[in-house]
Amino acid sequence: MSIVKKEKMLTFWSERARLYAGDPRANTGGDIWLREIEIAYVDKILKDNFCPDVLDFGCANGYSTSRLAKLNLQSRFTGIDINWEMIEAAKINSEQNAAPNLEYRRYDILQDDPTTEKYDLIYAIRTFQNIESLEMQKMVLDRLCDRLKPNGMLLYIESYLDGYRRLNEDREKMGLRPLPIHEHLTLLTDEFDNHARSKMKLMRRDSLSSSYYLATRLLYAYIAKMNNEPIDYNHPIPKTRRCTRRVTERVVNPPDGQIHHPNRFARQPSDHRKQAIKSYAIDTPEALFRSLKRG
Ligand SMILES: C[S@@+](CC[C@H](N)C(=O)[O-])C[C@H]1O[C@@H](n2cnc3c(N)ncnc32)[C@H](O)[C@@H]1O
Repeated sequence: MSIVKKEKMLTFWSERARLYAGDPRANTGGDIWLREIEIAYVDKILKDNFCPDVLDFGCANGYSTSRLAKLNLQSRFTGIDINWEMIEAAKINSEQNAAPNLEYRRYDILQDDPTTEKYDLIYAIRTFQNIESLEMQKMVLDRLCDRLKPNGMLLYIESYLDGYRRLNEDREKMGLRPLPIHEHLTLLTDEFDNHARSKMKLMRRDSLSSSYYLATRLLYAYIAKMNNEPIDYNHPIPKTRRCTRRVTERVVNPPDGQIHHPNRFARQPSDHRKQAIKSYAIDTPEALFRSLKRG
């Protein structure tokens, strides 16, 4: 079962690499704007913390790795990925957009151990969810912990199963079809976070893209359906965060005139329309851990 799932994952990303090569769409479901939120978040962590050695675990075609490397020339970046075709795309991309502080390697963190290098920051953007089971996700996390320098940090930005379920419940209430979860994915659960907490100290946990998901996967999707238009992530709603925020605030603005942050909505007594969005997905949350190891 796990082997089949892993094979499906490898095939999925190989096809993406063949179709899109170095294009940002290779690594997302076509929504390249979500990626801007992720890049900005990791960049801030890098700007706030001095990290000479950085590992991008599951770098795919290196689109975000090279963007981050160029923005943080004081750090050395290594991008690793299990998929040969993704790493080839990353290398070709890097020849065209050279970043002097960046290299790519192809390997499976669980099977090959070609280096003993240690890192100040290891980050994973939607990579753990591509690992075939919770058990394997935990093993990968352990392996990555071993690769951290004392006080090194591990950051992951992933999709969670409960967030997807809530999002789909809300979509259903709005007459929208549920978003499918690809067969090769194992979305994260609290159990994974608990395992991480047993190994490392939690520094922060955010939910940076849930407003974005509210605006795009519920509101924009609803507007598109009403207008009989196909979903196009180049529409202004997904495109600009400012626009996203404005739409979000307008819709959640309750009748008393006060603007409530959507995260507080669950605590508000709500009519049916608000009910539909009260438990919108807490999706792609991220967690930043610091290694407990010393010396
Ligand atoms: C969603 S993509 C990553 C997107 C990328 N982090 C970004 O920001 O553009 C998931 C990647 O994880 C990689 N992956 C899955 N399992 C892996 C493993 N065990 N070791 C390394 N990479 C893995 C896949 O090959 C795929 O390229």
